Order: sequence, then C-alpha cells, then structure tokens
Amino acid sequence: MMVSRSHSLRPFLLSLLVVPALASKALHLFQHTHSLSPLLLALYFPTFFVLEILLFVVAWFLLNRTYGAKSAIGAAIVGLLGCITLAAASSQIGFYFVTGAEVRWNAAKSVGDDPEGRKLMLSGLKPVLCAGLFLLVLSWLLASGITSVMNNWFAAVTGAFSEESTEQLPGANQKGGSGLRRRGKQWTIIAAAVVFALWLVRPSDPYNHISGALPLSIFYALLVNPSSNVDTSSSSFPLPDLLNPVYWEAPKGHYRGWAPTNGESLETDDYPVTVPEWASPNLPRGFERWAQKSDNSEPVAALESDDEEETDDYETQYYDPVTDPLRITNLDHELFEPLQQALKEHDVPISHVVLVIMESARKDVFPFKSDSHLHQKILDSYEDDEAADEVNAKLSRLSPVAEILTGESSGFPDHEPNELVKDFWNVTSRPGMGGINVNGMLTGSTLSFKSALVNYCGVGPLPILNLFNKVKDGRANSSEDSQDRMEAIRNRKWKTMFSQSITELYDKQNVLNRKMGFNQSICREHLDNRRSKHYHSGMEAINYFGYPEVETYPYLEDVINDALETDSRLFLSHFTSTTHHPWGTPSDFDRKHYFYDDFLGTHDDMDHYLNAVRYVDHWLGKFMNLLEDTGIANETLVVFVGDHGQAFHEDSPVSGTYENGHISNFRIPVVFRHPLLPRLQVTANATTMSVVPTILDLLVNTKSLNQKDTNIALDLMNEYEGQSLIRPFQSQKNGRQAWNFGIINAGGTMLAVTSAAAPYRLVLPLTKDFEFAFSNLEKDPDEEHIINEWNLKGLLKKVKNEHGKEAAKWVQDAESIAKWWIEERKRVWNYHETV
Ligand SMILES: *[C@@H]1O[C@H](CO)[C@@H](O)[C@H](O)[C@H]1NC(C)=O
Ligand SMILES: *[C@@H]1O[C@H](CO)[C@@H](O)[C@H](O)[C@H]1NC(C)=O
Ligand SMILES: *[C@@H]1O[C@H](CO)[C@@H](O)[C@H](O)[C@H]1NC(C)=O
Ligand SMILES: *[C@@H]1O[C@H](CO)[C@@H](O)[C@H](O)[C@H]1NC(C)=O
Ligand SMILES: *[C@@H]1O[C@H](CO)[C@@H](O)[C@H](O)[C@H]1NC(C)=O
Ligand SMILES: *[C@@H]1O[C@H](CO)[C@@H](O)[C@H](O)[C@H]1NC(C)=O
Repeated sequence: MMVSRSHSLRPFLLSLLVVPALASKALHLFQHTHSLSPLLLALYFPTFFVLEILLFVVAWFLLNRTYGAKSAIGAAIVGLLGCITLAAASSQIGFYFVTGAEVRWNAAKSVGDDPEGRKLMLSGLKPVLCAGLFLLVLSWLLASGITSVMNNWFAAVTGAFSEESTEQLPGANQKGGSGLRRRGKQWTIIAAAVVFALWLVRPSDPYNHISGALPLSIFYALLVNPSSNVDTSSSSFPLPDLLNPVYWEAPKGHYRGWAPTNGESLETDDYPVTVPEWASPNLPRGFERWAQKSDNSEPVAALESDDEEETDDYETQYYDPVTDPLRITNLDHELFEPLQQALKEHDVPISHVVLVIMESARKDVFPFKSDSHLHQKILDSYEDDEAADEVNAKLSRLSPVAEILTGESSGFPDHEPNELVKDFWNVTSRPGMGGINVNGMLTGSTLSFKSALVNYCGVGPLPILNLFNKVKDGRANSSEDSQDRMEAIRNRKWKTMFSQSITELYDKQNVLNRKMGFNQSICREHLDNRRSKHYHSGMEAINYFGYPEVETYPYLEDVINDALETDSRLFLSHFTSTTHHPWGTPSDFDRKHYFYDDFLGTHDDMDHYLNAVRYVDHWLGKFMNLLEDTGIANETLVVFVGDHGQAFHEDSPVSGTYENGHISNFRIPVVFRHPLLPRLQVTANATTMSVVPTILDLLVNTKSLNQKDTNIALDLMNEYEGQSLIRPFQSQKNGRQAWNFGIINAGGTMLAVTSAAAPYRLVLPLTKDFEFAFSNLEKDPDEEHIINEWNLKGLLKKVKNEHGKEAAKWVQDAESIAKWWIEERKRVWNYHETV
C-alpha cells in the first residue's frame, strides 16, 4: 500500500497534541500534589485526565480520514491545536523553571497586550525554547507508538460495535476476535462509567482546577472574563460587637471622631458632616467630596477635571474615617520623646520632600546583616568554613549607605560604613542624628505600581501640594535669619517631579503618574530623546526596561537647581530600578560572587540580585551627596521605602512576587531621613499606608507649613487610614486589631492578611486556583513551614491542632475581615463589576 506524505505526518500531528498536553498535565499535578491527601489523589486520579482523553479522541477522529478535503481540514485543525499546545506547554515549563510558579493564561494575556510587558516575557525565552525543543523531539519519537495504541483501542471499541450488528447475520465469523473486541468494549464502558461516577462525587475545588487541560484552558482564559470567583458579597461588618456605641469616640479638634454604624446612617448631631473651612469650589482632583457639599447643597460644577470619564448611575462613594470600622488613630498620642526634645531645641526645616521608592528592596539587605537568615544561607552554600572570612569581608561592604541611612549596623567586625562611602558621599549629619528608621513594615502590594498607590496613599497626597499651592500666592522671600528662613520656606510653592531611569510606558505608569499629580517626569523616554539636555551616546541599557539610575543624575541636579532658582519647594519622587529582574548591572561594575558559585549556577539569581543591591546602595550614596552638593541636604526630608520584597528559591518554593504570598516578598525598609532629626529606631507592624500621614505629621510638627497649610494638613491627617510612624503605633484598641492587607502581584487572585496585634499571617485565595496559607511569624519568621489547605475548614482544623485555639480564631476573623475589606475597597474606589 502506498503511504502518502500526509499519511506519515498524521501520527506526528497526533503526538504533537498528546505529548505536550500530557507533559503540561504532569507538571500541573506535580505542583499541586503537596497539598492534597494521597488517598484522595489516588482515588480521583483517573478523573484528572478526562478532558485530555476527550480531546485526543476528537483529534484521532479528525485524523482518521483517508481521502478528500475533509481529511486535510482535519489534519490542519489538529496541527494547529498541537502547535498551540506545544507553545503553551513550553511556556508553562519554562515559567516553572524560572519562577517555580504556575502560568495563569488570563494574566499572561494582559501582560502580552502591553509592548513593554512583552519584553518582560521575552526575557525568559531561553528555558521556554529548550522545553519546546525537548517536547518536539519527544513527540517525534513517540509518534508511531501513540498512534498504534489509539488505533488498537479504537479498533477494539468500534469493531465491537459493528460486530454486534453483523452478528445476527448468518455466517458471522471470527468468533474469537469478536470476544476480544467485546472485552475491549466492555472495559472501555466500565472505565468510562467509573470515571464519570468519580467525576460526579468529587468536590469541585480544587479538583476542577487540577483537571484543567491544555489547550482548552487557554481558550477558556481568552473567552471568559476573569473575575474573582470567591463569594465576598456580604457587605456588613463581620465583627459587629467591636462597633458597640460604648466604644465610639467623640470629635475633638481636627479629629472627626469614630462612630461606625455597619452601613446604617449615623443619626446623631454629635458627628456633624462638616465641610472644612479651607474648602472652596475649585479644589484640585481628589477633593471632590468637599467641593460638592457646599452649604446650599448645590453641587459645585467647577471641579478640576480635564479628562472626566463617563459618569454612571452610581452615587460616588468616599472613604469616611468616622464610619470605618477598622480605623485606629494614634494622632492623640504624643510624638516620641526624643523628637519632641529635638524640635524644642532647634529648627528642623523641611523645605523639600524626596520620596525614594526602591524596587524589590528587601528589609534584610537594607542593610545586609551578619547572622541573618540570608547570611546563613550564603554561608551554607560553601562546604568548608574557611571561605567564611573571605565572603564575610565582601558582605560587610554590600550596603554601607543603607547602614548610615537606617542607623543599623551590619554587625560585621572591623567595619566603619562612613569610611566605605567617603569616596562618593560626604556624610555631614552628626552622630545620633539622621531621622527615623522603621522596622516591621510590610508593603501594601507586591506589584510596584499598586505599591506606589499605597505609598502615595490612594492617589491622595500629591493633590495636597496643589491644594497648598492654591491657597497661597507664593512670592519668594529669602532671608538669612533662621526665623525668617522658616517663614520663607512656608510660603514657597510646591513643584512635583517624578524620576526613574527606566521606561514610563509599562503598564500605563505615565497615566498613573499624571493622575497622581506628578506634573513632570524624567524617564527612559526622556533620556532616549536626542534633544534632551544631557543626551549622550553610549548609554548602556542594563535591563529590558532601561538604564542604570546614574543616567538621571544630571537631570536631578538641574531639577534641584531650578527649584532653588525659582525658590520653590520640591516634591521629588525617585524610583530605583536596577534591583528588578534580571538584575543587570553596567558592564564596568565589578560583579562579585557571594554565594558559592557551582557550575549549575544554583544561586545565580540571588547573586545577581545582591550585586544589584550593592549597585543601588552606591547610587543612593551618590544621590544623597547631590543633596549635600546643591546645599539642600539640611532642609530636605528624604523618605526611603521599598516597593516590595523579592522571594528567591533560597527563600520559598516559588520565586518572584507573581502570585507568591511568601513573606520575603513583603518585608521592606522604611526610613524618614533628615540630618537634623534625632536618630530613632521604631518598630511598627504596619504597611506603607502610614507613609503619607507620617510625612504630613512631620511637616506640621517641624513647623514647615504656614498656618493655613497646617490647618489643612491636620484635617487631612485625620482622613487617612494609616497611623503616623512618629508616634507610638497602636496595634489594637478596644478589641479591634490594626489589620494589614497586602495585594499580591498581579492582583485579584490572593490577599495577604496580618494584624499588628498577632504574630499570625494568612494568605487568602480569591479565586479557586489557589490554596490558603497560614504561618506563625513568631515561631517561623522566614516562613519555612507554611500550612497549606484548599478550604477554610481544613485550614482551621490544622491550625488549631498545631498552633492552638487562639490562632484558629484569629484565622477565622482574618478571613471574614478580609472578605469584608475587599467589598469595602470596591465601594470606596467606586468599582462596579460590569456584568
Ligand atoms: C483509522 O482507524 C482504524 C481503526 O479503527 C485503523 O485501522 C486505520 O489505520 C485508521 N486510519 C488512519 C488513516 O489512521
Ligand atoms: C567631600 O568634601 C571634600 C571637602 O569639602 C571635597 O574635597 C570632596 O570632593 C567631597 N567629596 C565628595 C564625594 O563630594
Ligand atoms: C518678605 O520678607 C519681608 C521682610 O523680612 C517681609 O516684610 C515680607 O512680608 C515678606 N514677604 C512675604 C511674601 O512673606
Ligand atoms: C501642576 O500643574 C498645574 C497646571 O499646569 C499647576 O496648576 C499646579 O500648581 C502644578 N502643581 C504642582 C504641584 O507643581
Ligand atoms: C548641615 O548642617 C550641618 C551641621 O548642622 C553642617 O555641618 C553642614 O555643613 C550643613 N550642610 C549644608 C549643606 O548646609
Ligand atoms: C511585630 O511583629 C513581630 C512578629 O510577630 C513581633 O515579634 C513584634 O513584637 C511585633 N511588634 C510590635 C511593635 O507589635
């Protein structure tokens, strides 16, 4: 018999679908087995493959035609499906290899829609191509085997069917063969019935997620709009006892009081809804709530809005500190004693505020400390102890600038950070001075731009500066005398500037920046422009987003000098980026090995990261020196805050921030640096929601604002959810805890919940693809023994057994509070799901 070309291709086409689909399923199962009971896993095992089997059967039928156009169409369809499956399975395997995590196709779709996002994806191309090649070769090798198995099976099943119809005819032959076939058919029917029954009785989660099959899960992701499928719809507060009116607090001065009503309207004159005296019809964006409620209850039209979105039928909702059941204020407590003392003794002018947000800045590298968990991991990578001295000498030089900024010592012997930085930073602050270093802080989100929103406090803070500008005419006054100098500062107008050496176009950051109130920015698009003032050839891109930070130096110098010339106050934001994956550094940077360098490159990622950390540490020193050189250091508050941490496989089974709830993604440094503020070491188990209230508190208490602005700032401080970090942090009040929520990259899939009042931590899944995770940070600060469970009931049982009743109660509260919080966020952000 002649075998045509397309004929010989068929087995391969089938195999191209079968091999990647099964490889993908094997990996998928492997990633989930650790949290399932082995017994149930074995019982339901056959049901995990139902979709694949059906798919293979359809493919086989499409290919089992020998002639005509239909045959070609069938082959084309199977070929196309095979290619998609191959590509998807290779991506999945490559992604697992790089991050240890699972790809989610709808998230991949939205990253792929963004040109800068595609660069991010392409950076992981090598492992994907390797996986693809491997699967391709394997498909080729197994092609004939797979086809013959399928053919035999179908011959058995379909043959038995046709046999049955011919059996009644006289002269039926091949009795033996027919018996064999009938058994094949019977077995198939019995197996199908058993699998079907198991499918019916098994619980839908997590098994439906586990049964997902390529390429069907891709089509599903493309067609179905992702939405959170965990029910959070109940909007009443889950712990109503805490809202008892006996706990209510009366308004006092700028404090508007606390009287949560669980959704009912507050029918009392004790908590008047007042419009602040400084409110006027033309308030900047972000202050609409007061602009609309003028006395004669007529909405004021003259809002500052250049690009209004279409309005819908919903009434605009705002956050209200009076009725927020979770709010705990600490503004009624005094400033820390040393701070009060210093402010009595001398002026601490804050003319300028610089907010440095640091990419992937883990608290344990800011500064790097001897005897930390990470230090131990590094030492453990060496087989003999002799290397310890040499590697410790290197590590002691990793983050001297961070040591000076935080006032925390790295703890390595014979070590003088001021000596290490003297080539690039003349540190002028006196011993015992330098500002407030906060320990225990967590990020509000492990996605940089969401974290940025938290840092600027829900789009709020920057319009404040516009507001301050609106209420003064800003004539300059420079005088040498100290009192007059403070006076001059207070009357200056603010200027905002955002700066980073990477692209501003990724994920619409440019739009976000404008909306948050940054009037101008310096970014890659600016550095790349030949007409820019400091454009030069030979700029070296160090990662897929852009250049090293140092390229912004001359522009920052201009910005500061310009502010000095025009006598304005600067709100300068700077985002460091070199510490982002793939942790590239300029070619002339002296890269070092911290971990033991084995030939497999086991620790390469972490090592690259530590080099990037050292690079950025050096840059921050240079940046601080720029403030000294331009003469503004003594009147500038520099706030350093990490956008999120960064997990490596040395820390957790899954690396990176993407859909990874591990604590190493959350711990970040927070420092309020000013050379004339006393050095304070503070602990607060809070999130960066506290950054803006603290900046306002500092501006007010250093008397750096004039009377009018002070009034406004005092009102606004009382509108924020976060507590001030220059006063003792209140971790609980009348039984209600200070909860912290962290949105896990990419958002909408997992939420991290902690409370300042308890050492526990819960990671809550928001879709059915993820597990619950619980840890006790007191006993297990580095989350090496996380409890995972697919449902709350199972989790509560395990937590109770291992950590006691109190911990289980906390988990229950945390879960209900978190669900309530999610609905509450949607309300205050005026977010309405389109059905
Ligand atoms: C179609 O299936 C039969 C078994 O049912 C098998 O013998 C035959 O070789 C198949 N044809 C092709 C083109 O694969
Ligand atoms: C530090 O100050 C000294 C003396 O003013 C100066 O010579 C030196 O260049 C400065 N170093 C840096 C890095 O600015
Ligand atoms: C500037 O300073 C002078 C003298 O110190 C004072 O009289 C004047 O009111 C100040 N102007 C402003 C706008 O503060
Ligand atoms: C930003 O620009 C607008 C209009 O150009 C101006 O009114 C406002 O004062 C500026 N704000 C800041 C903080 O620079
Ligand atoms: C800042 O103040 C310190 C001491 O208070 C002084 O030594 C230093 O020169 C001042 N720096 C600038 C830039 O004025
Ligand atoms: C912060 O949390 C840690 C770990 O749970 C705990 O040891 C510490 O006492 C807490 N600090 C404060 C101030 O609540």
